[in-house]
Amino acid sequence: MEPFVAVSDLPTLLPLKRDADHSLQSQLADNLRRLLLGGELPPGTRLPASRTFARQLGVSRNTVTAVFEQLAAEGYLQSRQGSGTRVAALPDHPPLAVPAVETPSKDVPGGGRGPRRSKKFSAPAFATGFPDVGAFPLGDWARVAGRVFRRAGPELLAYQGAAGQPDLRRELVDHLARTRGIRCGPEQVLITNGAQAGLDLVMRLMLPPGSHGLVEDPCWQGIRAAASLNGIRLTPVPVDDQGFDIGAAERLLPARMLFVTPSCQYPLGITMSLERRLALLDLARQRDCWILEDDYDSDLRYRGRPLAALQSLDATGRVIYTGTFSKAMFASLRIGYLVVPEKLVGRFTSALRITGQQPSPMLQLALAEFFREGYFGRHLRRMRKQYGKKQEALAGALQRHAGDLLEVEAGDAGMQLVAWLRRSVEAGRLRRMLSGDGFDIRLLSDLYDGVCPREGLFLGYAAMPLESIDGQCRALAASLRRAIEG
Ligand SMILES: Cc1ncc(COP(=O)(O)O)c(C=O)c1O
Repeated sequence: MEPFVAVSDLPTLLPLKRDADHSLQSQLADNLRRLLLGGELPPGTRLPASRTFARQLGVSRNTVTAVFEQLAAEGYLQSRQGSGTRVAALPDHPPLAVPAVETPSKDVPGGGRGPRRSKKFSAPAFATGFPDVGAFPLGDWARVAGRVFRRAGPELLAYQGAAGQPDLRRELVDHLARTRGIRCGPEQVLITNGAQAGLDLVMRLMLPPGSHGLVEDPCWQGIRAAASLNGIRLTPVPVDDQGFDIGAAERLLPARMLFVTPSCQYPLGITMSLERRLALLDLARQRDCWILEDDYDSDLRYRGRPLAALQSLDATGRVIYTGTFSKAMFASLRIGYLVVPEKLVGRFTSALRITGQQPSPMLQLALAEFFREGYFGRHLRRMRKQYGKKQEALAGALQRHAGDLLEVEAGDAGMQLVAWLRRSVEAGRLRRMLSGDGFDIRLLSDLYDGVCPREGLFLGYAAMPLESIDGQCRALAASLRRAIEG
């Protein structure tokens, strides 16, 4: 089973407070135990080596070793000479949502009130899925949000419509029409707690437990995780250079839903050809399937004109579209959206009410104003330029330092790219060597359900400082060379 939480994300999920009453060791032990109890790291998952982990967390190696030993003694971890520290199988229990231990600050009686502000946050080198949050105009956002909050009358403090704030839905209708060719009314736009909550809701409503869906292989692990939570059987469908393989999908039908990322295939970065889009819609019409179009990062395109969304080509109301602000803005905003066919609006709206999966209406209004005043567009234009430059720098540096080892495929969009290995190397050895050198890099084979036809590195660049890219690539090349050439 794939960890739902990537091991590379661990340092960001284990926040430590230097000024707290509890020692760093007890904070780390509590936080790690909480993740393990939550079932977010399945048995067998290998944790980073103690030296690497200590460096990533900014603590001493002794602290990490002591925590590993403690959690091993408690039965959460297993440490074996030569094979590192792994997550142990816990006795059967439903995953527990164990609340995070709030560590009170030393200097604030009753715990740290007010926003937690770390002095410096940097995502691990080559981490995927991270936008450059340091470049987000937090001051503008705070001003806009403050104005919206101050202006709010008592009516805004009451329960609000479950489908989302009308102002934000109207802004999204304009934005999606302009950038993605989507034609829909504001009533078809439903605001969710990010794209992940949207995916979960779609599965709950459209795929009864035991039903069957088809998904691109490789794919975003969150889709498989949500399907497993909802008791849905997903069959992987290969992806070729034009996207979802229709012939292969046809042989695997019937299925209730086809899950695709046409704008920028996750993780391969392929833009699905128009021919393939039309064939996919045709297949769905003939074989009576729904399509889920996950357009998670389509705002971030650097070259060429984006192809219109699949939803915009759909004449029969079979496409459900989902998007998110996690990539174009920041992930902790937890705002995403669904665009659903008219006939599904009532069902989805009442499900949003029942499940309570609605982001704060206040934040939705602040976001609408952020759009209206042009801040969103400005930020997006800046990020497109910067990420385009970073992508170019990464492709260039990989070519310079590891051109004989890697073949780089830089797409026209996104926040990460795939560097294919020119020579084969056993995945376990590769992972071990990279992690021993302090890199926590996702391998392409980690994202496949079926057989990975060719191994590669999945490398994020959006959050990396431009000036660090060359040096990190040089170090990565050296590590890779040791792994490949022994
Ligand atoms: C392909 C894909 N879909 C969905 C999501 C979920 O995004 P959100 O943060 O909006 O839940 C992600 C997040 O990385 C993703 O990569």
